[in-house]
Amino acid sequence: MKKTILITGGAGFIGSHVLRLFVHKYPNYKIVNLDALTYAGNLENVADIEKAPNYEFVKGDIRDASFIDQLFETYKFDGVLHLAAESHVDRSISDPMSFITTNIIGTVNLLNAARKIWTESFENKLFYHISTDEVYGSLGDTGFFVETTSYDPKSPYSASKASSDHLVRAYSHTYGLPIVLTNCSNNYGPNQFPEKLIPLAINNMKNNKPIPIYGKGENIRDWLYVVDHARAIDLVFHQGVNGETYNIGGHNEWTNIDLIRKMCEIMDRKLDRDAGSCASLITYVKDRAGHDLRYAIDSTKIKDELGWLPSLQFEEGIEKTIDWYLANEEWMNRIVSGDYENYYKQQYVKR
Ligand code: NAD
Ligand code: DAU
Repeated sequence: MKKTILITGGAGFIGSHVLRLFVHKYPNYKIVNLDALTYAGNLENVADIEKAPNYEFVKGDIRDASFIDQLFETYKFDGVLHLAAESHVDRSISDPMSFITTNIIGTVNLLNAARKIWTESFENKLFYHISTDEVYGSLGDTGFFVETTSYDPKSPYSASKASSDHLVRAYSHTYGLPIVLTNCSNNYGPNQFPEKLIPLAINNMKNNKPIPIYGKGENIRDWLYVVDHARAIDLVFHQGVNGETYNIGGHNEWTNIDLIRKMCEIMDRKLDRDAGSCASLITYVKDRAGHDLRYAIDSTKIKDELGWLPSLQFEEGIEKTIDWYLANEEWMNRIVSGDYENYYKQQYVKR
């Protein structure tokens, strides 16, 4: 079936993997990547597909309502996969406003534009909002987030994502807009901006720099390989039920310190260093304000209803990830030689 679909945030980490999968798998779709190319957006992430006949890149900001209306008028999208967002918790603590404008207002601009061009019929139309498990707040030592867990966001980032989730559901309830949502756990893999724990740690290990661990390193995250998230997004976009929410997770919980120790062992081996070399770089620093203790997803619903399961074991995924960063030094070097240096100083040197 021919379709024109919009993917927002396609130059970012997860968006680039979703784009690649869709461009290759759906030659009949025209796929438009809308991205403002903020500090986190990088067209190098999608350089391999830029010449594909079913792909087009548009530079633009979801905060600009008239631009978004015009874009929808021009392309008459059949479907939207909305990933564009400010995504880093630490930045939301130092600069909450950009999270409010992009994650909340930006999402509403897209919802309004979709509503306007789909006035005649909602048939075969879909607005898919990609969200996070952080909207559910923080777990104690036991239990899992399920789709009916009450929202309890704790950071400006997660509160802005929670707000956008509520608005998407409100547009479904009030106007009948066809929607689906997914809430996913922590992703890792190639192309992740090195402000996030895993790529930041790989880069620091490689360059013999301290590896900053917030607090005691006892916080727990549930890690999922990014390509498995992209596969889940494909499945939900095509088979998800209108109005439904699906949780996506890796069944793969690690304390931050155990995760970093595991990565240190792999890096010592890959860099041919003495055992314990990378671990000697581990440095405990001041904790993140309001640091959520534990996230863990119960993904029974997407497994039972849509047949999704992660395809990679973590040991394999983290090796692949480390190999990618070691093989793509140029990608990393271009990022860390720009504004990143200022960010790093503000975030870590003053800590
Ligand atoms: P990212 O920060 O790597 O990429 C975000 C992309 O959005 C960038 O390309 C950026 O240029 C673009 N963008 C930002 N503001 C924009 C604006 N105003 N207009 C247009 N484009 C804009 O983020 P990511 O980690 O790939 O996350 C993508 C989505 O998935 C986000 O909505 C995030 O909340 C969600 N999510 C992320 C994770 C994770 O572990 N990274 C887990 C669950 C859900
Ligand atoms: O759970 C999904 C979320 O996962 C996504 O919605 C977010 O967009 C994504 O950034 C991620 O949020 P986290 O805050 O969990 O990811 P981050 O990589 O920033 O941190 C992972 C853990 O590591 C967290 O407990 C904080 C800790 N940490 C992080 C950094 C950057 C450190 O100890 N040191 C660090 O330098």
